Amino acid sequence: NGVVTIDPGYKNTGSCESAITFLDGEKGILRYRGYSIEELAEKANFLEVAYLLIFGELPTQAQLDKFHGDIKAQSVVDEDVRKIIDAFPKSAHPMGVLASLTSALTAFNPSSVNVNSEEDMYKAIVKIMGKFPVLVAWTLRKKQGLPLDYGDNSVGYVENVLKMMFKQPNCDYKLDPVVVDALDKLLILHADHEQNCSTSTVRIVGSSHAGLFASLSAGISALWGPLHGGANQAVLEMLEGIKEDGGDTKKYMAKAKDKDDPFRLMGFGHRVYKNFDPRAKIIKKSADDVLGNLGVQDPILDIAKGLEKEALEDAYFVDRKLYPNVDFYSGIIYRAMNIPTDMFTVMFALGRLPGWIAQWREMRLNKEPIGRPRQIYTGATHRPFKAIDQR
Ligand code: CMC
Repeated sequence: NGVVTIDPGYKNTGSCESAITFLDGEKGILRYRGYSIEELAEKANFLEVAYLLIFGELPTQAQLDKFHGDIKAQSVVDEDVRKIIDAFPKSAHPMGVLASLTSALTAFNPSSVNVNSEEDMYKAIVKIMGKFPVLVAWTLRKKQGLPLDYGDNSVGYVENVLKMMFKQPNCDYKLDPVVVDALDKLLILHADHEQNCSTSTVRIVGSSHAGLFASLSAGISALWGPLHGGANQAVLEMLEGIKEDGGDTKKYMAKAKDKDDPFRLMGFGHRVYKNFDPRAKIIKKSADDVLGNLGVQDPILDIAKGLEKEALEDAYFVDRKLYPNVDFYSGIIYRAMNIPTDMFTVMFALGRLPGWIAQWREMRLNKEPIGRPRQIYTGATHRPFKAIDQR
């Protein structure tokens, strides 16, 4: 009707109808396609969840085998990708590298851009599901000076990710079921979260028909920020900082509450969850299990638990309904798996990949119009041009 209302941060603006993820922030409920996150984390594996999110139903064994087979057939990248990776400095942040490489995939796979049918979409989807783990693993391997090797397609999707990341020259990586299970869970918990910042980015970029890989690359950039996926790196750096500072959690609680101090308790608060983040509950237990099973003693876990206890009893956090979110404990698990801190958000991206894909596919199948918000103009009214010598 031509009337523009402003809603900064889109706190109360719906951008689409979606049948993928249900989220009730008051009750702490998260469901993918109707299935509760608790049940999926316990009983499904990541590839099944990916299929569920993208295609709407849990796969039969035959459907899963076909999906996995099609992905495996795409699990190589163009040889020139190695040259691109080599051109990055070793100090490059892995999220910047991953966003660039994902965008570069479009150049090597131009046919993935124009998707005019569900079959075209399927081809683009299995391509990215196959190639993305290679980019993730090679981003890490480049940082660690390891050869850019492929994994082992005879094992599961998540198992192969681990092999590709950690395989040493002349020495196969021995899969530990505790680590596989923990990574499966983490990826499932991160797999979708309705219209968050990165997913909205994927949908809005995709709405211009820019193509799946370019849309995903934009989503990766959105995820990078510390208020979104980058929080997992920021949490661990914060916990390490507290430890080095003598473990004085009270000092950091005071900083977080001080309105003149920009410091925030990373891993706390959520735009939608106002009672608890159901993912955080699962992850906290998983952190205990993984560290226990791997025999890892990490003082950082004690600091995290202390901080959580203090915050949950503190009026500032209680009044504002600030609870630990999914990223408060995820970094502790990644650390126990020997994943470097600046790779944490890359792992989040790997988990979010099927969610982004599902949302992009839904947006295209629904034939949604190009995203184009309006504004209320607050600049100068019309004024005459001034020649440069009169300014
Ligand atoms: N530490 C201290 N104060 C906080 C925090 C925090 N982590 N989070 C929010 N607040 C305060 C904020 O200062 C504001 O106070 P006041 O009402 O006095 O001005 C109030 O709580 C509401 O905060 P907001 O920034 O208006 O809330 P938002 O919905 O815009 O932001 C958030 C949500 C997640 C960005 C924010 O809570 C935050 O910055 N948290 C830390 C970063 C983080 O952990 N992000 C990961 C989110 S979960 C993973 C993901 O989905 O990406």
